[in-house]
Amino acid sequence: MTPKLFTPLPLKGITLRNRIAVSPMCQYQALDGLPTDWHPTHYESLARGGAGLVVVEATGVSPEGRITPACLGLWSDEHAAALKPIVEGIRSGGAIAGIQIGHAGRKASANLPWEGDDHIPAGDPRSWETIAPSAVAYGEGLPRVPREMTKADIARVREDFVSAAKRARDTGFEFLLLHFAHGYLAQNFLSPWSNHRTDEYGGSAENRARFMLETLEAVRSVWPDHLPLAARLGVIEFDERNEETLAESIALAKRFAELGLDFLDVSMSFSTPTAKIPWGPGQLREISKRFLNETGLPGSTSWNINTPALAEEMLQEGAADLVMLGRPLLANPHWPLAAARELGLPNPSSVLPPSYAHWLSRYHFA
Ligand SMILES: Cc1cc2nc3c(=O)[nH]c(=O)nc-3n(C[C@H](O)[C@H](O)[C@H](O)COP(=O)(O)O)c2cc1C
Repeated sequence: MTPKLFTPLPLKGITLRNRIAVSPMCQYQALDGLPTDWHPTHYESLARGGAGLVVVEATGVSPEGRITPACLGLWSDEHAAALKPIVEGIRSGGAIAGIQIGHAGRKASANLPWEGDDHIPAGDPRSWETIAPSAVAYGEGLPRVPREMTKADIARVREDFVSAAKRARDTGFEFLLLHFAHGYLAQNFLSPWSNHRTDEYGGSAENRARFMLETLEAVRSVWPDHLPLAARLGVIEFDERNEETLAESIALAKRFAELGLDFLDVSMSFSTPTAKIPWGPGQLREISKRFLNETGLPGSTSWNINTPALAEEMLQEGAADLVMLGRPLLANPHWPLAAARELGLPNPSSVLPPSYAHWLSRYHFA
């Protein structure tokens, strides 16, 4: 029997050739938000490796929405045009091209991970002003207190999401992932750790969700009906409010579905450095299973899905319809071939393009 990992996944007007997705991963190789030579090679290699979906890294909807000065952006037509070769490369590798758009909120203006992953000090010419729902810092290496957003800022950032979505659409991306997770701007609104507002964008769960709901609704109106619109949502903080946060997130995802969201990636919130995250293989397995079960949305999850067998089990039991893999695919862009062999797919090398598959079908390697 064909392992579920290698069955196609239809999503609205597109079909992924299998259920392996390249999770969005910042490459920290951009200049002024524009891709460099690094990007097309990186993304096309991953598509050639056999994944069904390749999601381009968190891409800033505005310059101040980037995480670091080396992150991609989509705030001008020049940026959109520069992403076209990436879309074409992913397509020629046989995968669907997706992109994640986001705003980094109070975690923006940071150094590259291998240069500290901390805020660039204010006053450094590479730094910029950070904005968030409230003037509350994340803490530890990200101590910068953001400027509290005005209503005009909120409307402007929502429109930046819409403009970026239109540009993604016109560039040929077929899967749009809204970054509503990981302690960045949208999550800053949702989380009581970062949202202390007293207006209609803060306080109750309804108010804290307003930025996400309005942004989703506005983006849906420009994203084509026949293409899947997805969100990566931080559904749990791993703090004292776990049950409450999960219940709020489940209710919120149902509202997302009513507004036309097609697909949900179950992720973590990362709103506080004090979170007690249970790192380990399949760490979101049970949470994702419950989440997808209770919301009825198709979805994916990631975080330490570190073997093909675990990926297959999670698909079989309904913890995901698609696995979003990050580091396993950095370690081996041909992970789908290894998985096909391990899970007993007949003719496993067929998951790769013929230029590789032909030679590998009779070559037995460990
Ligand atoms: C180098 C790197 C960059 C990442 N950048 C992003 C990003 O741009 N957007 C995002 O939502 N998650 C990002 N993540 C998280 C991954 O998408 C993924 O969820 C995480 O690595 C867990 O999956 P894994 O255990 O298979 O690596 C990044 C992870 C890595 C390793």
